[in-house]
Amino acid sequence: MTFQEFRDDVRSRRCSGLENVAVFRRVDSTNLLARRILDEFLRDNGNSPRALFLAWEQREGRGRLGRTWVSGAGLGVYATLLWPLQEPLRLHTLPLLVGVGLCRGLDPYLPRSVSLKWPNDVLVGERKLGGVLIETATDSAGRPTAIIGFGINHGHREDEMPTPHATSLRAECDELPGLANVTLALVEALVQELEHLDDASYTISAYRERSSHRLGDRLRCRLGERTVEGEFLGFDDSGHLELATAAGREVITAGEIIEG
Ligand code: BTN
Repeated sequence: MTFQEFRDDVRSRRCSGLENVAVFRRVDSTNLLARRILDEFLRDNGNSPRALFLAWEQREGRGRLGRTWVSGAGLGVYATLLWPLQEPLRLHTLPLLVGVGLCRGLDPYLPRSVSLKWPNDVLVGERKLGGVLIETATDSAGRPTAIIGFGINHGHREDEMPTPHATSLRAECDELPGLANVTLALVEALVQELEHLDDASYTISAYRERSSHRLGDRLRCRLGERTVEGEFLGFDDSGHLELATAAGREVITAGEIIEG
């Protein structure tokens, strides 16, 4: 598939709930691009729109915790959704809901189940199929807009995986879905899930069902310079990770699971 075919394919479909959809051949990062456009929009209009930015290739794709997201031309879904929020509180459960939305969007294509490594690495089995990078911008009245970036590996063959523990839709699906098809299915599922953003209990219970962690699992978590190890106790009502460590119960609000 070429870029033009991808772009035409995206344009020929309607993306429900979204009027602003832009497709680019090459960008530094869809998150950076979305932030620049959002900043300009806030300056000129004072409010922010719902909008979707898609790229065929990213030269400086960004991952969580300052990592790079390898984003070769036509090999993956590289998308950023701008989503204005009513209030900052919603930012707590947003990362979980986004993970749930991506899993639901992927379900129809995958013979195996899709799960989430806390907070929102998208896994098939033990391998990472995709990830989420959420950033925020705030307007002059203090209302936040979420900049929801997600990447899903699509066309990589086994010997082309971006990292040793990565997988792709090509490796996992019986029949590889078209890139535009899967991109828009993901966006639709995400937009549908975001309608539940005010309902924290929905979010937490949907998230628990998708979690790859089982009660009692031994997890090791990196929090900046510190590493915490313990038995997985569950998620609290804000989606924070609870571990039983040697020093007692620890609630982890942000970090990365490095083992488990
Ligand atoms: C992770 O580290 O797991 C998060 C990866 C997020 C990658 C996506 S690709 C589209 C968007 N633009 C970026 O630069 N990053 C996100």
